[in-house]
Amino acid sequence: MKITVIGAGNVGATAAQRIAEKELANEVVLVDVVEGLPQGKGLDMYESAPIEGFDSKVIGTNSYDASANSDVIVITAGIARKPGMSRDDLQATNANIVKSCTEQAVAKSPQAIIIVVSNPLDVMTYVAMKVSGFERHRVIGMAGVLDSARFRSFIAMEMNVSVQDVSAFVLGGHGDSMVPLPRYSTVAGIPLPDLMDKATIDRLVKRTRDGGIEIVNFLKTGSAYYAPSSSAVEMVESIVRDKKHILPCSVWLQGEYGLKNVFAGVPVKLGKNGLEEIIQIKLFPEEQEALNKSGADVQANIAKLSL
Ligand code: LAC
Repeated sequence: MKITVIGAGNVGATAAQRIAEKELANEVVLVDVVEGLPQGKGLDMYESAPIEGFDSKVIGTNSYDASANSDVIVITAGIARKPGMSRDDLQATNANIVKSCTEQAVAKSPQAIIIVVSNPLDVMTYVAMKVSGFERHRVIGMAGVLDSARFRSFIAMEMNVSVQDVSAFVLGGHGDSMVPLPRYSTVAGIPLPDLMDKATIDRLVKRTRDGGIEIVNFLKTGSAYYAPSSSAVEMVESIVRDKKHILPCSVWLQGEYGLKNVFAGVPVKLGKNGLEEIIQIKLFPEEQEALNKSGADVQANIAKLSL
């Protein structure tokens, strides 16, 4: 198994480290355009292997040659937000970066499954699918796992319970119109509306929607990376170990959930073939409306691309 992570910034480097520590691949290749950066981080990571006890090799490089025949490619390249910016403000810059990375990566690894992490997430996942020419089951965006993890953390904090008892469900695009679904979010199997009042749920939902910018406002020079990298690696693990986890991921919808020709977050089964199934549920009218709006926002941004 070989996994390439493109972008040796905070998200990419942390993802590569988590992949290596979990031994999800024999070889982890970290690619970046900045001279020395992937080499330095990759070597540093590999030097932690004797202590952490992993046998994955970590290779840092500026060239895609070392990434040839990867099974999974994780694209994290691109600029991050600064305070005052929305994810959509990154679109013009990151579209060019993701396009170029995708072209170079798929030329060496035509059979790979691509996981996109760069923002604005849903639009960048579209760029990767379009440029690679891959079928939809091999191009998947990471967002819902992160948004759900944030929702789960906030629920656990609020109730002072183990995060392990909390599961949560967030649909839609990874943007200001994402759609957390409280009635499908549970603590030890008990739906959230049975555990807290509406005002509390609304507060946690809002904090989840604003979860990315909350971190940006603290860090000031960049965005979150511990939880985003964990989220991407959970997807990688489900694929390379063929675990068939049901995870909310951004996928190219073809009529599912009433949305067509748009990337948006829905629950999917991830296994060795990438996207193996879209799990469909019937939404309440107000939930469907929120999802439609989220899909329309993504579609409007896709329309602005010139690839
Ligand atoms: C976040 C950014 C990375 O949600 O999208 O933290």
